[in-house]
Amino acid sequence: MADIKIEIDGQIVNAKAGETLIAITDREGISVPRFCYHKKLSTSASCRMCLVDIEGVPKPQTSCSTPVSDGMKIHTQNEKAKASQKAVMEFLLINHPLDCPICDQGGECELQDVAVEYGSDVSRFSEGKRVVAASDIGPLIQTDMTRCIHCTRCVRFGSEIAGMMEMGGTGRGEDLKIEPFLAEGITSELSGNMIDVCPVGALTSKPFRYELRSWQMVSNESIARHDLTGSNVYAQTYKGQVKRVVSGDNEAVNETWISDRDRFSYEGLTHENRLLTPQIKVEGQWKEVEWNVALDFAIKGLSNTVLNNRKAHKLGGLASSTTTTEELYLMQKLLREIGCENLDHRLNVNNLDEAIHLESNLKLQALEQVDHALIIGANLRLEQPMINHRLRKAQLSGANITALNVKEFDYNYALNHVSVAPNEIATILAGVLKIVLEKKSIELPEYLSAISPSGSSVELAKDLLNAERPVILLGEHIINNKQAASIAQLIAEIAKQVGANTLNLSISANALGAQHVNFVPNSVGMNVNEMFKAEMRAFLLLDVYPEYDFHHANSAIEALSKEDVFVVSLNSFNNDLVAQYSDVLLPMAAMYETSGSQININHDIQSFTAMVKAPDEAKPAWKVLKVLADLLELPGFHYENSTQILEEFEHQPAHEHSQETAIDLSQQSTAIETVWMHNCYHSDALLRHAKSLSMSTLGQVNSASMNANTAKELALSDGDEYLGVPVDITETVADLCVFVNSNQATNIRSMS
Ligand code: SF4
Ligand code: SF4
Ligand code: FES
Repeated sequence: MADIKIEIDGQIVNAKAGETLIAITDREGISVPRFCYHKKLSTSASCRMCLVDIEGVPKPQTSCSTPVSDGMKIHTQNEKAKASQKAVMEFLLINHPLDCPICDQGGECELQDVAVEYGSDVSRFSEGKRVVAASDIGPLIQTDMTRCIHCTRCVRFGSEIAGMMEMGGTGRGEDLKIEPFLAEGITSELSGNMIDVCPVGALTSKPFRYELRSWQMVSNESIARHDLTGSNVYAQTYKGQVKRVVSGDNEAVNETWISDRDRFSYEGLTHENRLLTPQIKVEGQWKEVEWNVALDFAIKGLSNTVLNNRKAHKLGGLASSTTTTEELYLMQKLLREIGCENLDHRLNVNNLDEAIHLESNLKLQALEQVDHALIIGANLRLEQPMINHRLRKAQLSGANITALNVKEFDYNYALNHVSVAPNEIATILAGVLKIVLEKKSIELPEYLSAISPSGSSVELAKDLLNAERPVILLGEHIINNKQAASIAQLIAEIAKQVGANTLNLSISANALGAQHVNFVPNSVGMNVNEMFKAEMRAFLLLDVYPEYDFHHANSAIEALSKEDVFVVSLNSFNNDLVAQYSDVLLPMAAMYETSGSQININHDIQSFTAMVKAPDEAKPAWKVLKVLADLLELPGFHYENSTQILEEFEHQPAHEHSQETAIDLSQQSTAIETVWMHNCYHSDALLRHAKSLSMSTLGQVNSASMNANTAKELALSDGDEYLGVPVDITETVADLCVFVNSNQATNIRSMS
């Protein structure tokens, strides 16, 4: 766009021809009132609040829909502009209840703010005001549609960003209503953004209803840690508690949107299962004690079992990858200082010999620019909502997208679904690689000689070869595929040959932080699964919940519960199982209660401070680990704050975990295979304790999906249970496999 000059309220301003006037006034800090305009949504120009006077144009014009041209002279404040704006304001307030004292939007309401400047003290409207019955659209969003000003931001958000047309306008004129189309209400994984975009109190946060006024809270920048995006958020606090989370702006990360799990997970912080005081188990009985007593007990227990007898190789350290990078760094440093190399964060991997090694080499913003994406093994919309949002933008710009999955998942954009059983994926990719290599006249490796590419391979290869900016995304469903390592390697080979980028989405939360600080065993250490088979004497656990976190939950519980095994658990939540196997419980601070950092899929180290103090006696885990190290008289743990820990590891080169494994296409399973995924609102401890998310439509999903033939093979029918999860018979699942999406503890015991 050509550079031009325009005049606004007597000021000469630089602009680009064709830019909308409101974009320029916003950039220049010139205030123009608006309701329907939103910088990330299409223009509807329906509210008319942004009217301005343009010289030479007889009638006032809406600045959100008026493109500028060279020499244009605009008045935003002259009599004509003001009169137009006031007239629109009066019209909007005719039917508005103005019940600000009982409205949750009061104090942060765009209508209230604009009404103060443009409204009148006295209403000329003496007729009865319109009343619209509130509709129940689910546990996350509270509606009060009498306050709706029909700006359609929520409607446009649904169709343009969430990709689900769940809200819409019905009726005309006086009878126009904005309401959900379906009885089940709003089910999008991004639905909470409607609260942010609604300029009035028509859509507000249900869990936050009638809690506080916005001015009573302190808003702090933070990072949400439920997925690989690390969305930027504001955590709003009052008297030491997080009361609400709203989205922050960061174009490189989450733009201005956040997922519902990032928005509502804070509810879990006040759950009754929080572990609040240090406890020790004496003769089978739990006893609440002071921190120094608990830490001494932990040191004594570790000394008696492993440290005094030079048996550090009998100690295991396991951590959840939802913890901070600083916590993971300190824990591995402590363990390595005492000679223990048994540490791991890859708790949910069945076979670590088949661990996935694949780099992520495309930034989130660049993902919007791809012209072809191949998704393998992911229900991206629910597992990585913000990454899916970027891909949706690519698709809307013309990218061709294919998903190779065990089930046809419900994506919010058009794509080609290829349903395949887990044991077919490696062979299909091998077929793709063979076609690509033949096309490029490259000598075929031995393992491809017996491969005859299927129709699916031919289609996938054609799309990849035709694309200029392709990307291949490998998702979580592959981690326990029997050929996982080979699949990752085949993807890397294909990507190299076709010039594709890759994104490894098989990991979650802060797994990149764990990799950066090398929270995996070196050549002499044991991985998580080996530890459970060995004769261990002690474990140090960091926010671990075996019934959810481990693939081999049964072996984990058995190994941890042995009489002669001493277990120190740093946890933010307590439950019967944790209490059963632990000997010491050390309460740790949860998200928003500790400072630290997360490494996201862009490889950005994103730091955050503690927003609130952890409840009761709970402490940030980095402090607890530091004190444990001091009590063990280990050198190099004199940190005063978590920033000093960050400074120690941030410039260390990230540990490389790439390992060339021979591609093996032979070990195909012929049995019915199950892909088990946690429900998207049960994938970490904080989410599992967030009540409103659990009550939502997505949080309630608990099904073992299979087609009729597989159900027949398993002698199951609709209404039966498979691995404790209700059976759902659908032809969208590939033959002879089961896709479980469960909001229960992993019933993997019967699988392993
Ligand atoms: Fe007041 Fe705004 Fe609520 Fe309307 S939407 S009642 S103006 S706070
Ligand atoms: Fe606009 Fe809010 Fe009404 Fe939706 S509910 S149309 S966002 S005022
Ligand atoms: Fe321009 Fe609504 S903001 S018409």
